[in-house]
Amino acid sequence: MKVGIIGCGAIANIITTSIVPEDNDIEIAYFFDKDIERAENLASLAGGVAALDFEDMVDNVDLILECASPASVKEYAPVILGKGRDMIIMSIGAFMDTDFYTEVLKIAKENNAKIHLPSGAVVGLDGIKAVAKFGLKEVNLVTRKSPKSLGKDIDKEEVLFEGKASEAVKEFPLNINVAATISMACNRDIDVKIIVDPKVDRNVHEITAKGDFGEFKTTTMNYPCAANPKTSMLAALSAIRLLKSFNETISVGM
Ligand SMILES: NC(=O)c1ccc[n+]([C@@H]2O[C@H](COP(=O)([O-])OP(=O)(O)OC[C@H]3O[C@@H](n4cnc5c(N)ncnc54)[C@H](O)[C@@H]3O)[C@@H](O)[C@H]2O)c1
Repeated sequence: MKVGIIGCGAIANIITTSIVPEDNDIEIAYFFDKDIERAENLASLAGGVAALDFEDMVDNVDLILECASPASVKEYAPVILGKGRDMIIMSIGAFMDTDFYTEVLKIAKENNAKIHLPSGAVVGLDGIKAVAKFGLKEVNLVTRKSPKSLGKDIDKEEVLFEGKASEAVKEFPLNINVAATISMACNRDIDVKIIVDPKVDRNVHEITAKGDFGEFKTTTMNYPCAANPKTSMLAALSAIRLLKSFNETISVGM
């Protein structure tokens, strides 16, 4: 499988340096970034090609892995899916725009293209997907961030946001991927609380789900990527797992 990457930052670096061709014949061949130097650096590290022409890249691959920004999803996904190419999308917050989501789904269906959303920086989506249509009554997410990660200097915890995921995306667009992913996994606008907490030095995500099945809680305490403290290591690792899962004979825990 030939892959092109959009966005050659922290996530792309981890993925590219962790995938070898023996991994299910995955070849990360093209690198595209609005900062061409970043594309060239990663391409030379990986033995690939820095793409100068976006559409050329799309024409030459089986799948595009987006790890750039929600704006890049809005700009490029319709073109990629319109050419019948599959996508892995990291900037899942883009799909909180329901009109855009509907349009993209239509394009993907019409062109027989698949969209894959990795679990990203949180655990527990397997359970949420399993119970989503079977009496799921409540899902909420509490995200705790360190004052440092938000550029704040405080010594007491402070609730920054409390409301629906669709509202959180407007106030914290860069921190919304986890809330967006959970919302999409259960097809509802989940309740979100974002807390700045001097007691934590990592991004912590607590999910609670209750329903006819019972109840579960998951806590994910993420270490950040060295190259981008806003991004959790687990997010990149989840995309690697997803890439490797294509064509596997046995799927576990899907
Ligand atoms: N799904 C999740 O759980 C999850 C977790 C962490 C990060 N993310 C998202 O993944 C994306 C990448 O994260 P990162 O830490 O690698 O970011 P990064 O800032 O380290 O790298 C992003 C790269 O994309 C490039 N870029 C941005 N917009 C572009 C555009 N329109 N066209 C071409 N290139 C563009 C930038 O120049 C940069 O090199 C972000 O949108 C981030 O919010 C998702």
